[in-house]
Amino acid sequence: MLEVKAVTRMFGRKAAVDDVSFAVDGPAFVGIIGRSGAGKSTFLRMMNRLLDATSGEIRVDGRDVLGLTGAAARAWQSHCAMIFQQFNLVPRMDVASNVLHGILNRRSTLQTMFNLWPRADILKALDILDRLGIAEQASKRAEALSGGQQQRVAIARALMQDPRIILADEPIASLDPMNAQVVMDTLKRINVEDGRMVIANLHTLDTARRYCDRVIGMRDGRIVFDGTPDQLSTGVAREIYGADDSFNEAATSTSITGDAKADRTYADLMLS
Ligand SMILES: Nc1ncnc2c1ncn2[C@@H]1O[C@H](COP(=O)(O)OP(=O)(O)OP(=O)(O)O)[C@@H](O)[C@H]1O
Ligand SMILES: [Mg+2]
Repeated sequence: MLEVKAVTRMFGRKAAVDDVSFAVDGPAFVGIIGRSGAGKSTFLRMMNRLLDATSGEIRVDGRDVLGLTGAAARAWQSHCAMIFQQFNLVPRMDVASNVLHGILNRRSTLQTMFNLWPRADILKALDILDRLGIAEQASKRAEALSGGQQQRVAIARALMQDPRIILADEPIASLDPMNAQVVMDTLKRINVEDGRMVIANLHTLDTARRYCDRVIGMRDGRIVFDGTPDQLSTGVAREIYGADDSFNEAATSTSITGDAKADRTYADLMLS
């Protein structure tokens, strides 16, 4: 289904993503982990065509999406919806309209100006909100919702596009552990029930272990690990994060049951 072949992205003389290759057969839940600056976001942005690659191919069902331009590139973008750490909702707009904006590119300017949506689209948006457990929030302004609810609205907006692949760039990095779990459970459900591939950049190891079928570890733009969660030992994690023996896994945890320290990320550890 997905074949990434020798993808590289240079920024000046620095390779942010360096000769990355991997293949995914079915609709797996793939996690990408690695320390800050490893190239995780750059990779997702190339997949979504927000950023051009310097070289390489990303083939989906045999077709190189990096070679698409114009309308074909836009069509591809709607097949791989992106979710961001900061939700990227329109804060003062109501939840249902935010969700409907997932299909904005299919509409005329006039329809959009007057906020006119076909009844079928409105019903679809409400159905999706209902499925994600936030239907009762539909008429509220997005900014009035909790972070976890806002991220579910962003997922609903993505689902409006009926995407084959969902790309999530640190989807839970701004959320408390409880909301983080709800959002990850939601992504997992969409993956399992709908058969949509999910590729998520994650900053904590325990989340990657718990939700992913496959984990890709990046360091300095390159893949240094590609395997299943149970192959992701502390030693391997240490290598991915470039840490020494003092590396403490709890510091990359978002566990709800863990101690206070468990809420800290690897980045915090490096700074402390
Ligand atoms: N627009 C840009 N111009 C120049 N350098 C960039 C640009 N975007 C990213 N980089 C560099 O590319 C490298 C990879 O960045 P990227 O944002 O992909 O890392 P990341 O793994 O997502 O990190 P984080 O965990 O902090 O989000 C970094 O060294 C970064 O400074
Ligand atoms: Mg990033």
